Amino acid sequence: MKPRMLKENVHSVGAVDWDRRLFDELIPLPDGTSYNSYLIKSGEKTALIDTVDPTMTAVLMRNLDELNIRKIDYVIANHAEQDHSGSLPAVLSRFPEATVVCTPKCKPMLTDLLLIPEHKIKAVEDGEILSLGDKTLEFIHAPWVHWPETMFTYLREDRILFTCDFFGSHLATTDLYVTNEAAVYEGAKRYYAEIMMPFRSVIPKHLERIKPLQIDIIATSHGPIYGRPKFIIDAYTDWVMGEPKNIVVLPYTSMHGSTRAMVEYFVDALAVRGITVKQFDMARSDIGKLAMALVDAATIVVGTPQVLFGPHPNVAHAVFLANVLHPKLKFASVIGSYGWGGKMLEQITAMIPNLKLELIPPVVIKGYPKEEDYKALERLAQAIFEKHKESHLA
Ligand code: FEO
Repeated sequence: MKPRMLKENVHSVGAVDWDRRLFDELIPLPDGTSYNSYLIKSGEKTALIDTVDPTMTAVLMRNLDELNIRKIDYVIANHAEQDHSGSLPAVLSRFPEATVVCTPKCKPMLTDLLLIPEHKIKAVEDGEILSLGDKTLEFIHAPWVHWPETMFTYLREDRILFTCDFFGSHLATTDLYVTNEAAVYEGAKRYYAEIMMPFRSVIPKHLERIKPLQIDIIATSHGPIYGRPKFIIDAYTDWVMGEPKNIVVLPYTSMHGSTRAMVEYFVDALAVRGITVKQFDMARSDIGKLAMALVDAATIVVGTPQVLFGPHPNVAHAVFLANVLHPKLKFASVIGSYGWGGKMLEQITAMIPNLKLELIPPVVIKGYPKEEDYKALERLAQAIFEKHKESHLA
């Protein structure tokens, strides 16, 4: 995309990556992403907020040419991860007078990851102010959204908060601003689930910290920017602090149909009790959709056959993800089938030390389900319904 103006002398100069389909070699990006970078010109000084992924350096440079930029005084690095810092070496090579500005924790990360010389980096304290002449930047340390060194930058005169990953969405679009809130809600929730949810315990503090600021625009470094900041602040408030909902997430795999028969019966048994079920066949599902379902769910039930004395690896993957993503889940159980014995229950429970869950007695059967097994599934569905009711979710 060519440069676009947010406010007088504030331009978006980053890149849209329409074709990227995987992040960290793990996270699906069905709608691509963007690496947003912002140029602020002032009477005396010029600052660049974040750079772009190194694969998109040429786009950033072209945009700086379009704006006829001959000198950059400061490059603000809100985050050291390479999708935002990766073009720093190229920017410093072209604008050798520029100083990189970041948190004290970010400084050694930039030298370690990108080999930026220490003398090129100025570490700023929380609340520190940098005057550009006509415009003023305020730095707000915001650790763990996404790494320990992350910060926000607030442009006082224009009331713009630059939050880098925080509030972002993996969404390639030609729209500078959010135009379709429903579509962006989906992308932002996927982003929150995959990137921010593991750190949800620190997020209320950051939301509280930005509350007193007058914010007209939230400009993230992924996805379109928010001209109505309340939209994304309200969404985060719900995802982070809202009670879990009357939802069961059911990741499962079936090899020969026994576990599938149990899952199909069990889903109906939950649904007739008014519980929403989100089931994922782990041989085929997008793990981003599973992560999004975990944002609101009260209960996870894992459906697995026994393979080589433990859970099926596809389901083990889902359990591992649930543990590291650290959702608001309250209850868990397991349903599944085995042929001759094993330790899949012990292995599954050992994989979720981060989750403080109440385990509801599982239904693990031998072979294909029989009449008494369906009755056991009915009892499990009723037990989940009662737990949700006691928690005022049903
Ligand atoms: Fe978009 Fe944590 O980098």
